Amino acid sequence: MNIKNEDGYELWLRYRKVDDPDRLAQYREAIGSAVVLGEGATAEIMRTELARALPTLLDKTVPFLMEKPNSNALVVGTAGELEAAGMTIPQAQRDALGKEGFLIRSHQAGTNTWIVITGNAGTAVLTGLFHFLRLLQTHQDLRGLDIASRPRICHRILAHWDNLDGSIERGYAGTSLWRWDELPERIDPRYHDYARSCASIGLNGTCLNNVNAQAKSLTSEYLRKAAALADVFRPYGIRIYLSPVFSAPMKLGGLPTSDPRDPAVAAWWKDKVDEVYRLIPDFGGFQVKANSEGQPGPQDYGANHDDGANMLAEILAPHDGTLLWRAFVYDVSVDADRAKCANKEFVPLDGKFRPNVFVQAKNGPIDFQPREPFHPLFGAMEKTPLALELQITQEYLGQSIHLVYLAGMWKEILDSDTYAKGPGSTVAKVVDGSVFGHSTSCIIAVSNTGSDRNWCGHHFSQANWYAYGRLAWDYELSEETIADEWIRATWSNDPQVVEPLKTVMLGSWPACIDYMTPLGLHHIMQEGHHYGPGPSFNGAWRKDWNSVYYHRADTEGVGFNRSSSGSNAVSQYHSPLREQFDSMDTCPEKFLLWFHHVPWGHRLQSGRTLWEELQHRYNEGVAFVEDMQRTWQRLQTHVDPQRYKHVSERLAHQLENARLWREVCIDYFGQFARGFSRGQ
Ligand code: GCU
Repeated sequence: MNIKNEDGYELWLRYRKVDDPDRLAQYREAIGSAVVLGEGATAEIMRTELARALPTLLDKTVPFLMEKPNSNALVVGTAGELEAAGMTIPQAQRDALGKEGFLIRSHQAGTNTWIVITGNAGTAVLTGLFHFLRLLQTHQDLRGLDIASRPRICHRILAHWDNLDGSIERGYAGTSLWRWDELPERIDPRYHDYARSCASIGLNGTCLNNVNAQAKSLTSEYLRKAAALADVFRPYGIRIYLSPVFSAPMKLGGLPTSDPRDPAVAAWWKDKVDEVYRLIPDFGGFQVKANSEGQPGPQDYGANHDDGANMLAEILAPHDGTLLWRAFVYDVSVDADRAKCANKEFVPLDGKFRPNVFVQAKNGPIDFQPREPFHPLFGAMEKTPLALELQITQEYLGQSIHLVYLAGMWKEILDSDTYAKGPGSTVAKVVDGSVFGHSTSCIIAVSNTGSDRNWCGHHFSQANWYAYGRLAWDYELSEETIADEWIRATWSNDPQVVEPLKTVMLGSWPACIDYMTPLGLHHIMQEGHHYGPGPSFNGAWRKDWNSVYYHRADTEGVGFNRSSSGSNAVSQYHSPLREQFDSMDTCPEKFLLWFHHVPWGHRLQSGRTLWEELQHRYNEGVAFVEDMQRTWQRLQTHVDPQRYKHVSERLAHQLENARLWREVCIDYFGQFARGFSRGQ
């Protein structure tokens, strides 16, 4: 078979002729013509998208009408536009959709059947339209369509750790998509493609710059550049956010202080925020990293997080702006166990934040490790809406070299029960506001996009961007469903491709944990760049930047004792988790070395000793990567040569790395465990 080369630029918005003859016949019959009601930029985007998608998917010309069709047709428009055209959506249904929800429904119009896509706003209809195209791309049955969908989380943001010089902190797919030097005059066509991709998976926000921020991002010059991007993104339903540096009043305003309690400081911020909203009327808000890893913040002046957050939030509030205040703090003077610091600083502030503040916590209490237990802040701050921060860019998970599908990790976190209000108080339900009764909610994830032609470096890393959007919209979707959709849209609907790729993707995260940090080990990557194994590292000035701080291996055993006989981090979780984590016997093995210093000879559920089990896990992880490679090789004739080769090269590299992880870690831990190697 001669398959045309592809570079991956199209992402999952890859429209190809439907190659299932029955489905193709059904679609051709159902979509005799198409009409997008309404005017304006969003309606235009929808027309363009349909003009791009339908002729290719259906392999026929689809007439575009300007008014009500009298054939089987696709009818797209807001509920208001449909009403004007004589088709009423009952008010209760409209109300149930909210601002962003959509409806896709078969509608009998005389002898014709219309597929109607609607919502209360143009951007909601756009989300519905992308959903509909996904149905075609994945060969779904269109008969009797009746889909009503609305997002479970209000703010669904992609965070770019992009610097103004084009570099990206923890970026592994080239340089920044934002060409600051060309803005605002030149609009790179890729901005549209970016917004289109985000909109297609239901995202509604993007934070343009690195949390380790530069003051320059708030200058008038750069705000005009940001405004040009906002203008591009607006019709796609994407609002922009910025990360300001807390010391901006001094750095830009020339003030002697940035103390949030100083009226001159607040006045400076008010002027700045007014300027932002003059340029970007729908500006989303600020994401702030303060008093974290050397960033300036209110504590520099003896004030606290709530003082800083509230000062900014009060200024943003009249504009409907949101303030995301990051809880990624680990000041050694707060606690010697880094995992405990955020709760110790933030829980006492619960109830002190203004309503438009989110305290933003990473999924786990350390830092985007291959696996962490959920962050105990979720469930510990009743009065404050918490934003969940995930990381799509695989800083600690093999970056853009390793194929690791992250949806399973995010699902594990979202589904974790915090027990904050009894059983069923999952992280997802804390985040969506339902556990504590908040009417607003937010999820944000560090992007993996860059200037690489395929956006994400690894073709399979695109799946993580995709999965994030889909889960942010509906966290009840399974990782399997999402993988299935993504594979069909990105590669092929052929079951001979879909099934093996699903096995690869779903197994890839557990395998990565096994060959890097099994059984609760964490943060033993090489220093600084966090790529590759570095369990022996002990050279950093901060104790908690060293691997040995985290694994604490000695001749007795390995692991960080966070039980009640150690740092007592377990006490930050609600019962019965706290008790479960506290005992070596009941602690889930996946978190064993996270919470316990475990003797090498300790027997695990498998009957193996800890030392044997550790070796076993490293072997299993490597074996899975070998399988991944074999599976991929079998698919050679089913995918295009260009993407095939690209992925093959990375898999080879991943396998080499996985073997290295195994060798280095077994050698290293073996020095301590040697006496136990035969299963004592
Ligand atoms: C990690 C990452 C940093 C980043 C930080 C953050 O520590 O390595 O590059 O700045 O997280 O989330 O603020």
